[in-house]
Amino acid sequence: MEDGCLLLSIHATPLRVMSNPASPSHPLLVVPTGALQIPPLAARNSATTTPEIKLSLIIPTYKESQNIPTIVSKLSHLLNQTIRDRYELIIVDDNSPDLTWEVAQSLMPEYPQLRVMRREKERGLSTAVIRGWQAARGEVLGVIDADLQHPPETLLQLYAEMERGADLAVASRHVEEGGVSDWSIIRRFLSRGAQVLGLIILPGVVGRVSDPMSGYFMVRRDAIMGKVMDPVGYKILIEVLGRGNIRWIGEAGYVFQERQEGESKVTGKQYIEYIQHLLKLRISRWPLMRFIRFGVVGFSGVFVDMGIFYVLREIAGLALTRSAILSAEVAIVNNFLWNDLWTFGDISRTQKGWKKRIKRFLKFNLVCLAGLIINVLIVNILFNLLGMNEYVAKLIAIAAVTLWNFWINLKLNWRVTEVDER
Ligand code: GDD
Ligand code: MN
Repeated sequence: MEDGCLLLSIHATPLRVMSNPASPSHPLLVVPTGALQIPPLAARNSATTTPEIKLSLIIPTYKESQNIPTIVSKLSHLLNQTIRDRYELIIVDDNSPDLTWEVAQSLMPEYPQLRVMRREKERGLSTAVIRGWQAARGEVLGVIDADLQHPPETLLQLYAEMERGADLAVASRHVEEGGVSDWSIIRRFLSRGAQVLGLIILPGVVGRVSDPMSGYFMVRRDAIMGKVMDPVGYKILIEVLGRGNIRWIGEAGYVFQERQEGESKVTGKQYIEYIQHLLKLRISRWPLMRFIRFGVVGFSGVFVDMGIFYVLREIAGLALTRSAILSAEVAIVNNFLWNDLWTFGDISRTQKGWKKRIKRFLKFNLVCLAGLIINVLIVNILFNLLGMNEYVAKLIAIAAVTLWNFWINLKLNWRVTEVDER
């Protein structure tokens, strides 16, 4: 009877640690705290005998106790054949109620390259991955799902891309040999819809890879080191692309497998978080300091305009329209010079010569002229058509035209590229 019970209980939880879970010989990793920032590789002590880690692969988990033994075994088998003891697997579990972390920890004696982190204070897929990377010792940082929906073999192709010199290697469902299993039309539509939304909000980021939703990729530590990351929700790749210094991107096709055990954690909430994440990145990429400098220069222009207007009217005795046009042009010259030297000084210095500067000046004039026309149009529409107070209308027009002037000059005149907007 006793024996029967024991057998039964062992059978019911075959993978649980039977001894003290906090086994001192295989301790859990300490959870990094503070900013989500990847540190440089720790300097190696010349006396250390353990081989240098090349690849640190994070496996984020939430309620994956049934999948953990299989994924760890498959990944270990695969990597032992290729980079033997020069990799580490880091499971980052968010204190799963099914004790995934404990199951993982019980595997540590069998898999020397396995490390386990149990997070109790934070939650969420993206931050789990970054916390794992913060504890990682490798030069290449990777991530793979625990539920076997990402075929382990693709790892070798991704790693090969990194060895060829890629900064980022992404497993993609949307290149040759890639795909999804039997997804419904609705699911395909939602997935593609999310991608299109990303392309609209952040074309320079989302458009760089064929599968921006992928959660299966590797990135070079150098490319994201020191950047403060702040992801919302599920899509860690977007964060890496948006904040990292990524030049060379490699891709490898894979077929997204059906889940055999456990269940997906995706709900409607992940879609909302995805949009929040896109907007947050969009704002962080806005060239704020440049815009402030542009605003200060514009403000100085108001005084130049007023001062010259006063001189022309009162001292030179010129007619009203002539004074207004002349003073406005002097203000434009003033603004151009300061913007060329200061607001966009870093760019002007790379486009030397009087000819180029005059060209920029003429373009600046054209943009201002267009701005003036837009200004007059807006005031008229708001005041005459919508019956708004004329001073409020004028204020809105000034704000709109300032944005217009800034954006067009940024993109078409000084030509600041998307990759390096700041
Ligand atoms: N630590 C932690 N915390 N892990 C989590 C959390 C969390 O809050 N939520 C999910 N995970 C883990 C899961 O246990 C699994 O290993 C992995 O993250 C992916 O979660 P799923 O819930 O299985 O996601 P999915 O299958 O719908 O989405 C997958 O496919 C996308 C491509 O369409 C994920 O791989 C995405 O990253 C991927 O972009
Ligand atoms: Mn999954």
